[in-house]
Amino acid sequence: MKQTMSVNTNDFEFICQLVYKYSAVVLHAEKSYLADLYLQPIAESAGFASISDLVGYLQTQPFGSLHSQVIESLVTNETSFFRDYHPFEALKKFVLPELVGKRSIERSLNIWCAACSHGQEPYSIAMLIKEHFPVLDNWSLKLMASDFSSKVLAKAREGCYNQLEIQRGLPKNFRDRYFQKLDHNWQIQQEILQMVEFRQINLVQCWPSLPKHDVIFLRNVLIYFDTATKKSLLKKIKQNLNPDGYLFLGNAETTIHLDTAFTRVQFDKAICYRLNK
Ligand SMILES: C[S@@+](CC[C@H](N)C(=O)[O-])C[C@H]1O[C@@H](n2cnc3c(N)ncnc32)[C@H](O)[C@@H]1O
Repeated sequence: MKQTMSVNTNDFEFICQLVYKYSAVVLHAEKSYLADLYLQPIAESAGFASISDLVGYLQTQPFGSLHSQVIESLVTNETSFFRDYHPFEALKKFVLPELVGKRSIERSLNIWCAACSHGQEPYSIAMLIKEHFPVLDNWSLKLMASDFSSKVLAKAREGCYNQLEIQRGLPKNFRDRYFQKLDHNWQIQQEILQMVEFRQINLVQCWPSLPKHDVIFLRNVLIYFDTATKKSLLKKIKQNLNPDGYLFLGNAETTIHLDTAFTRVQFDKAICYRLNK
């Protein structure tokens, strides 16, 4: 019978520090079962007899692809198309109409999905724009999506989703219009795929030089960071947001008590943030 590997307390402590050092994600002790679950296949495929042997190797080697694999396996990638619905309605009904009006002279718009996971979030924005803002066809529209994980970015760039993923949040008419069925999967159309530029950016490390953005989606990633990281990330976001731009966070996230430069704005059932005037 196949032995189940499990992670001991010291090894889990080392793994938590590794994940924190590289991604700033805080893993809690009650999540140690995840380490058992995700590190076993990594240990096996790298030829280690136990998770402890894998950890011993990581401890003695310079940072490499096995370290990245371990970190990426333990960071949550949960996402879906049009996640939480309301932020996308606010984008469609209020935010984009306002910005399209304001930018009608320069005809350029920059949108950034930071921490985009497997791509459902930026593709949702791309489909929403294609569907409701034909005026932007002739604009300089930059829709950038980033994540620190090369694994999730590889899948995002493919734009290919299984039946379960396609059923989560994507309206049927969007599926039929913007996806093509390939065996058991759904491939997003080239015209949507090409609207999104994917880049590898670690939010807690040095960023490449970026233009200021009109809309930033930074959703469902702050929750994994400690207060000091949240504050320093919001400070950087502030510098990358145009003065009249909008920041969208996840439902369980806020700038309140973290950065007083932001004002909370409500559009119907959606909350977003603007820089104080
Ligand atoms: C729960 S997903 C959220 C995806 C999407 N924004 C959404 O709301 O559906 C969190 C994402 O944050 C990414 N992430 C975690 N730490 C990060 C960091 N330091 N820099 C960039 N991305 C990070 C993870 O790889 C993961 O894809």
